[in-house]
Amino acid sequence: FIKKLGTMTAAVSVAALMVAGAADAKNFKIAVGDSAGSAQEALGLAFVKALEEKSGGAHTATLFLNGQLGSEQDTVNEAAIGTLDMSLLAINNITPFSPSVGVFTLPYVILSLEDAEKLTQGPIGQELVENTIRDAGVRIIGWTYTGFRRLTNSKKPVSSVADLQDLIIRVPKNEIMIETYKSWGISPTPMAWSETFTGLQTKVVDGQDNPYLTINAMKFYEVQNHVTNLRYIFSIEPLIVSESVFQGLSEEDQKIILEAGQEATQISAQFLRDSEAAIKEELTEKGMAIIDPENDEAEFIELATGAVWPQFYESIGGVEKLNTVLEAIGREPV
Ligand code: MLT
Repeated sequence: FIKKLGTMTAAVSVAALMVAGAADAKNFKIAVGDSAGSAQEALGLAFVKALEEKSGGAHTATLFLNGQLGSEQDTVNEAAIGTLDMSLLAINNITPFSPSVGVFTLPYVILSLEDAEKLTQGPIGQELVENTIRDAGVRIIGWTYTGFRRLTNSKKPVSSVADLQDLIIRVPKNEIMIETYKSWGISPTPMAWSETFTGLQTKVVDGQDNPYLTINAMKFYEVQNHVTNLRYIFSIEPLIVSESVFQGLSEEDQKIILEAGQEATQISAQFLRDSEAAIKEELTEKGMAIIDPENDEAEFIELATGAVWPQFYESIGGVEKLNTVLEAIGREPV
C-alpha cells in the first residue's frame, strides 16, 4: 500500500508540475480598438515580438483587432476587473476613468510627436501611469503615437469654424472633446469608437476626427471624402494591462512586460515617422480631398484654448499641472 501511495504521490506531483508549467506560459489577450494596418496594431505586434523574445518564448500575446472585444471604454472596465489582460486604445477613452489623463487631450497642448514622446516618457507620463492605476485599475505599459486627429466629413470642404456649423460630428465619449466642439459652436454626437464606421456609413453622423493612420486603417475613405488638417489633439494610444493581472505575475515577468512595452513604444514612434507622409498621400489617391484650416487654424486655436482649458483645470489636477506640461515642452505657462 505504501509503495502504491508513493507512486500515486509521484504521479500527482508530476501532474502538478505540468499544470504549473502550463499555467506559467502565458498567452495574454490584447483588445485592440483599431484594425489591421493601424498604429495600434504596429505597437501591438512589436509588443508581442518583444514579449516572446524577452521571455525566451515562454509567453506570447494575441491581438483581437477592430473592437472585437468591445468598445474601447468597455475594455477599460474589463481590464479593471481582471477579465481582460490588456487593451490598446486612444487615451481619450481612458480619461473618463482617470480624469488627470485629460491633460494629454486638452486641445492644442501637444504640438508634435516630439512633445508627445517627451511628455509620455518623462516624469509627467510616469505620474499619469500611477494615477491611472489608482483611479482605473489599469497600468499603462506602452504608448502608441498616431499623429494629429484630422477632421473628416462626407459633405464639404471645411477650412473655418463657420464651415463646421451645419455638420453633425461624432466625438468619443470624452468631455474635453465635446466641449472643444462646443467652443467651435456645434454640439457634437458622442459615440463609441466601435460604432463609428457604421454611424458614418448610415449617415447618422457626417464626420469625425482621427489621425491619417487611423482614417486609412479603418477605411473611412469609403464613407468620407474631405479631410481638414486640424491639429487640436495629438493622438496618444496607450497599451494598458489589468493591474490585477500584472500583480499576479512574478517579478521577473513584470519586468519583461514593462521592458517589452518600452521597446514597442520606441517602435511606434518610428512607425509614425516612417509611414505618416505616405499614408496621407494614399488617402488622396483614394479620393479624399485634404485641406488646411484657414489662417493657420488661428480661430480654432483661440476658441478652444480660451474656452476649454479653464473648464478642465480642476479635473487635470490644477492649472499648475497644465503649466508643468507646457514648461516640459518649452512653452509659456498660462
Ligand atoms: C476614438 O476616436 O474613439 C479613438 O481615437 C479611436 C482609436 O482608438 O483610434
